[in-house]
Amino acid sequence: MKLDTIIHGGRVVTARKTVLADVGIRGEKIVAIGPRLAKTSADGAKLVSAQGRYVIPGGVDAHVHLALPFCGTVSADDYDSGTRAAACGGVTTLIDFAIPYGEETLQQAVDNWQGRAAGKACVDYSLHLAITNWERQKQDIKRMIDQGIPTFKEFMIYAAQGWQSDDAAIYGALETLRDLGGMLCVHAESSRVLDMLIERHHTPAEMKKHGAYLHTLTRPNFIEAEAIERAIRWTKATGGRLFVVHMSTGEGADLVKRAQEDGVHVLAETCAQYLALDDRVFAGKDGHLYATCPQIKKPQDQKRLWAGLKNGEVCSISTDTCTFTRAQKAMWNGDWTKIPMGMPGLETLLPVVYTQGVLKRRLTVNQFVDKCCTAPARVMGLYPRKGTLQIGSDADLAIVHPTQKRKVDWHQMQTNCDWSPYQGWNLAGFAEHTFCRGQQVVADYKFVGRNGHGQFIPRANPGQV
Ligand code: URP
Ligand code: ZN
Ligand code: ZN
Repeated sequence: MKLDTIIHGGRVVTARKTVLADVGIRGEKIVAIGPRLAKTSADGAKLVSAQGRYVIPGGVDAHVHLALPFCGTVSADDYDSGTRAAACGGVTTLIDFAIPYGEETLQQAVDNWQGRAAGKACVDYSLHLAITNWERQKQDIKRMIDQGIPTFKEFMIYAAQGWQSDDAAIYGALETLRDLGGMLCVHAESSRVLDMLIERHHTPAEMKKHGAYLHTLTRPNFIEAEAIERAIRWTKATGGRLFVVHMSTGEGADLVKRAQEDGVHVLAETCAQYLALDDRVFAGKDGHLYATCPQIKKPQDQKRLWAGLKNGEVCSISTDTCTFTRAQKAMWNGDWTKIPMGMPGLETLLPVVYTQGVLKRRLTVNQFVDKCCTAPARVMGLYPRKGTLQIGSDADLAIVHPTQKRKVDWHQMQTNCDWSPYQGWNLAGFAEHTFCRGQQVVADYKFVGRNGHGQFIPRANPGQV
């Protein structure tokens, strides 16, 4: 068979096994995996050596915000810098959240987001939709699912943004999505108590004393746990499918585990920052830079989330990329309630999880591939087109050295951010080469892709494990 590209000599890693094999690419697809392809089928094919490397499926980051208008500004990574960052991090598919503003319909939100991506995306992308007004938007759900957008996010906070959903909206969405084969994603934080705690601490004296650390003092773990508990309650009552996004607490993992044992269809992701950082970051001079929502928690939460990944109750790892520069973060001016919330992450997802997970023996390399590639693809309805290395799948893959480390330095990165939560960290797991649908987008750690290569990937039947 004529091949365009052969990745040869590497250890091919999937969620299930690791094999020494060559990978043959024709057009946009993987068409062969086997020994000695480079010897038997090389005829005119481009040969890329993966000797001494792992060949893994391209990462699937199921939680990304690019050019998001939020907190009085717009997040700094757009479909250009964000997808270049993804490529250099070995991520070949990302899922962004289209959000209707004001009176906009779901369709208008999708059109807005497609407009942002058009001609710019360098790797593939897909969209979730945010439901910001259930009563007005519910009649459009089916049309969105028919367009390949079967996952919807409801926020249990963010009244000020006009994004908040109440319990009735969550219950209604779970029922409707159950009937239409969709899945509800929730941002689970308990807004009434959270707002009360914020108000209680929102004094000049407290802000002078604690600075950005108030972000963590006002969000004790029960803020997330109570909201997850409530969302699980509605999921059980409706028989719907729930996906807890950016889960940050050990209590959350306990609740999800218990609900799964109880037969409730609930799944959860966590994010790299909850696994690698803890809330001491808020106490430093640059503490405000790390403000994200939910905030980074404690070492015991990290420990429980790693265990949840290993055991299975935490099914996948994403980034919640929502980049704000130092100038944007400076809008806080000493008041933590004004910090634009979010951080860069796409470029460091795989290296952080690989280094903290595989090299520290918290995950096997196959579990790493599962949590960052296969499980998010499966849960979000992209599998087996994305998230695995098998014949017929899109030729999305990254070649990574198993031990060689590179120092994180935002100056050298594709993100528009001028700081990194991992600045100066030595991480293995960066993509030496990345392919997205057969096209090489990273060569020798350098971006070689092009704007417009990335395509919208429709999804169906989410919630599979
Ligand atoms: O701080 C964050 N995570 N910003 C993005 C919005 C969200 O809640 O996911
Ligand atoms: Zn959220
Ligand atoms: Zn988010």
